This record gives sequence, C-alpha cells and structure tokens, in this order.
Amino acid sequence: ELREKLIDIENQFNVTSDKLKEITRWFEKELREGLEKDGSNIAMNITWVLGLPSGSEIGEYVTIDLGGTNLRVCLVSLKGQREEIDIKQHSYRIPEEIKTGSARQLWDFIADSLDGFIKSHRLTENRNDRLPLGFCFSYPASQECIDHGILKTWTKGFDIDGVEGENAAAQLRDVLAERNLPLELVALVNDTTGAMIASAYKDPDTIIGAIFGTGCNAAYVENVGSIPKLKTDLPPNTPMAINCEYGAFDNAHRVLPRTKYDVTIDEDSPRPGEQAFEKMSAGLYLGELFRLIALDLHKSGLLFPGQDAAKLSESYSLDTGFLSALENDPLEASQTRLEESLGIKVTLDETRVARRLAEVIATRGARLCSCGVAAICQMKGISSGHVAADGTVANKHPKFKQRWTEALGEILDWPRDRKEDPIILTSAQDGSGIGAAVISAMTLYRIHSGN
Ligand code: BG6
Ligand code: GLC
Repeated sequence: ELREKLIDIENQFNVTSDKLKEITRWFEKELREGLEKDGSNIAMNITWVLGLPSGSEIGEYVTIDLGGTNLRVCLVSLKGQREEIDIKQHSYRIPEEIKTGSARQLWDFIADSLDGFIKSHRLTENRNDRLPLGFCFSYPASQECIDHGILKTWTKGFDIDGVEGENAAAQLRDVLAERNLPLELVALVNDTTGAMIASAYKDPDTIIGAIFGTGCNAAYVENVGSIPKLKTDLPPNTPMAINCEYGAFDNAHRVLPRTKYDVTIDEDSPRPGEQAFEKMSAGLYLGELFRLIALDLHKSGLLFPGQDAAKLSESYSLDTGFLSALENDPLEASQTRLEESLGIKVTLDETRVARRLAEVIATRGARLCSCGVAAICQMKGISSGHVAADGTVANKHPKFKQRWTEALGEILDWPRDRKEDPIILTSAQDGSGIGAAVISAMTLYRIHSGN
C-alpha cells in the first residue's frame, strides 16, 4: 500500500516537459500584463535602476539587507576595477518575535544593528559627512523613485504590523534621524535587482538576477518604451531594471499543478491566496511540504507505524537544509538525521521512502523555478547569458542547478547533445550588499551629473 501511495505522490509531483511549457506560456502572459498595467497579478515593479553598471563605480557605502532569516550590515568599498571589492560585514539573526511583531520593533532592531556596526568599525572617526546607505529590502515594494518603496504585502512568512501600504524607506529614514545615525539613505533595492547588478559589475554577460532561497523571484532589464504602464519623460530606449515579483505567479490557480499539500500550505500561511508560485518552489516551503506528506503517511499508518511522531505535527520544523541532507547524505546518515529530527526510530526502508519524498519535492521545485527565467527569456528573445543566482536553495542544494538547467533546456528546446548550456546559472552569493552599494553609486553619480 505504501508503494502505491508513493507512486501516486510521485505522479502528482511530476511536472512533464509539456506541462513546463504550458506553465511558461502562461507565465509570459502574466509578465506582459504586469508591464501593461498597475495592479496586475505579477507586479513587474519599476526599480529606477537605469541599466547595468559599467564596473567603474567607486566609493564607500554602508548597506543593510533585510532578508528572510538575517539582517546583514555591510561596509562596501568599490574601487572601480571590476574585480576589486572590499567588503566587511556582520549578520544579525532576525528574532522570530520581530517577524510577527510591530514596525517599531523592526526599525529599532535595524537601528540597533546599524549603530553597533558603525561603532565597532569606527565609521564616524575622522569624518563629519554622512555615509551613503543602500537598503536591500527583499519584499514587494512599489517605487516612485529609487529612495522610496511602498510595501505591498509581506511575503515569506513575515507579518509585521504597520509597514504594509507604507513607505518603508521613509520609516527607515525616520529612525535614522531619531537615533542621529550618520547615514543618508540613497537607494532601496530588491535582492533580485541587487544580485543582478552585483553580478553585472564583474560579469557583462549577466542577463537576469534571480533568488532561489526562502522566496523565489527575479529581476531583468527592460526598455522604458516596452513598459506601457510607465508614464515618464525618459527616452524609450532607456534601460530600466524590473523587479518581477513573480512569486505571485498564478495566484488565480490556472496552470500550476497544485496538490492537497500545497493547498494546506497556502491556507495555513499568514497571507492565503498570495505567492502561489513561491509556495510551490521556494525554500521556505520545501521542508514544510515534506513534513505534511510524511505526516499524512504516518496518520494512514504507512510510515513510522505505532510511534509517537509528535515532531511531525510542528509546522515549519524541517527546513531546506534538512531536505537536502536527506537526499544527499549516505543512507545511514540520513537515517540518523531522521531519527534525531523526529525523535523516533526509523528503519532503512523508511529512510529510503523519506529520501524519495525529498527528491520528488526538490525536483518539482527546481523544475518550476526554471519556468520564471524561461518566460523572461522568451518574452525578451534572450537566448544566451548568465543568470546570477543567490539564496539557500541555489547555494546549498547540490542538485538544484542541474535539475533547473535540465528543465530550462526542455522548455527552450535546447539540443539534447549540446556541448554547452546557452544559459548558465552563476553564483551571486552575498550579492545584495555589493548590489545595493553599486546601485547607490550609480544613483549618486546620476544626481551629481544631473542626469
Ligand atoms: C542572501 C542575500 O545572500 O540571500 C539576501 O544577501 C537574499 O539579499 C538572500 O534575500 C536570499 O536567500 P535566502 O535563502 O536567505 O532567502
Ligand atoms: C519574495 C519577495 C521578493 C524577493 C523574493 C526572494 O518573493 O516578495 O521581493 O525578491 O522573496 O527573496
């Protein structure tokens, strides 16, 4: 019976080439709608980052990076030569109570971290001016200009009161002023835009910045003339980075192959009905999918029968690292890991089942992830280049890249006997700090040169 159930789950999670192509066609349609009008399902946010950097940007910048797990504060020195970037950084784990607390708690936490960083690096010594600050804010924000960002909705499980519908940049600026911190907020950027710009600073073949982490999203460069919703005096051939916010793809549930486990994840999340694509493909949800399936099998008496698997009832208790290790460690090590994480006895056969589940879930995630990038490439007619990727799934899951690339090749009909992949996933690890610094440099240059 377990065998049959497993085959059924495998079938539900299998995404064929044809299905990938169907999803990508629908994806492209939603991307285009996002460029056409405000309020579309995929936001296609205008970032006011006008094209890619030249690599000659210089200066010293403080950056903060509010991701899903950590707040990173960096001091970035750009020397203007593509390779030479000096970066000092400190990571502060975001306490759980802040993720569901109030705006006041969030900004106090950020200000305290910045204050500590400035003091420990003696940044105010021998200078009276304020240091430029780049703010990497990895949530959907619509921007009227580069140092502005109205948070549309929290994603990735955050649920902080008092920021949605508000200008996050202004809230940060207020707390900087209140604490008298010697910083001048220059730019608010998304992590995808940051990854793309950081990569392009060194690698001119960069076409897209993508995050495969707690969340899932990408940025690319559009021409102003191809963004009908943007009313501006900028010439139509001006390049403009777009933060797609495509974690929201298919919120209407038209093409994504949702299982009952995906429905549960959505219904139990702080924002049901939002981020449909992200909830099936991003790191925050992979371990949770595993937990829900394993719990289902356990309740039907098919897995860990007769044991008290209470741990399996704790939401979000298993993360992507666990799933990845289950798949990639030797079988005995996976068995021990399962026993330790779940607090029960696990047989080798059960370990094999768990491993298969981990494979099935991660493979579906990676294959779905390729659809977003394929849709951008099809829409823009891009056939080669580098996709600069960051995030725990891209960096820590050893099989992600290969599965993602294979699926991309199926969608874009690359020849099976190809010697090289035309589109390559490259690493923009820790790119957000550098990206926010380079964007701040590009912004200040534009202000000073009056462009
Ligand atoms: C980090 C970047 O390396 O990766 C962040 O600095 C980004 O800006 C993050 O949000 C994405 O990965 P994850 O897995 O932490 O969501
Ligand atoms: C979520 C956020 C988006 C971010 C992505 C990756 O989708 O809404 O802004 O880029 O996660 O971190």
